[in-house]
Amino acid sequence: MITTADLMNKKKNGEKIVMMTAYDFPTAKMAAEIGIEVLLVGDSLGMVVLGYESTVPVTVEDMIHHGKAVRRGAGQTFTVVDMPFGSYHGSIDRTLEAAVRMFRETGADALKLEGAGIVTDVIRRLVSAGIPVVAHLGLLPQSAGVTGGYKVQGKTAEDALRLIREAKEVQEAGACMLVLECIPHQLAGRITGELSIPVIGIGAGSETDGQVLVFHDLVGYGSHHVPKFVRQFADAGTPIHDGITAYASAVRDGSFPTEAHRFTMKEEEAGKLYG
Ligand code: KIV
Ligand code: NA
Repeated sequence: MITTADLMNKKKNGEKIVMMTAYDFPTAKMAAEIGIEVLLVGDSLGMVVLGYESTVPVTVEDMIHHGKAVRRGAGQTFTVVDMPFGSYHGSIDRTLEAAVRMFRETGADALKLEGAGIVTDVIRRLVSAGIPVVAHLGLLPQSAGVTGGYKVQGKTAEDALRLIREAKEVQEAGACMLVLECIPHQLAGRITGELSIPVIGIGAGSETDGQVLVFHDLVGYGSHHVPKFVRQFADAGTPIHDGITAYASAVRDGSFPTEAHRFTMKEEEAGKLYG
């Protein structure tokens, strides 16, 4: 199994850490076979697989459901599951209840939480309960309604200095890794240099210890908005579209199924059906 110590060593040795999202068993299995180090069951599943407009409607149940499927395929990978909107901002008892359930039922290696400030205290509590935590700073999709949408964060020196403080704070609270989303590359580089834990970027340039992308974005599958920072490494949507189109026309013109796809009963038995 890939451990936080392995990821820490990669940072020390300057080897990049590859992370991507997965929401189901076959994707997790493929990523594990390829040797991806970290899988994230992101609450981005709300948009890319459940068709919501944002991550806000995603529930603890949704995350557990997909987390279990991913963990079954995830092999040796370090698997992280997002705590969804609203599940870690109530009383600490409710937060712990949700976190313990998610951690225990999915078999995840860590849970991920967005933000610092009061979330830093939550990180500390989860870590003290034995739950490894990945922090997430910069663009926080779960707070987009408050921060005014999906925008680059930390562009002014003042905001950037606050983010550096928050990054140190979440590390000090015990986070085992940090995801930085949509911030200037200089800031991401600075934070990566200041922290001892691995820092993974998305839309944060190349100076971080690793990268994460949403599976559907990187393989080009789906109809959701694709941000500027994504490279589509494949165009999976086109062959899938073509396959479904060919299936529909084969059914309609009678060319599918053929004899090769059917089952046959003995003539003697078939004859009795009309007896
Ligand atoms: O939910 C998600 O996919 C994420 C990544 C963008 C880091 O949190
Ligand atoms: Na997320």
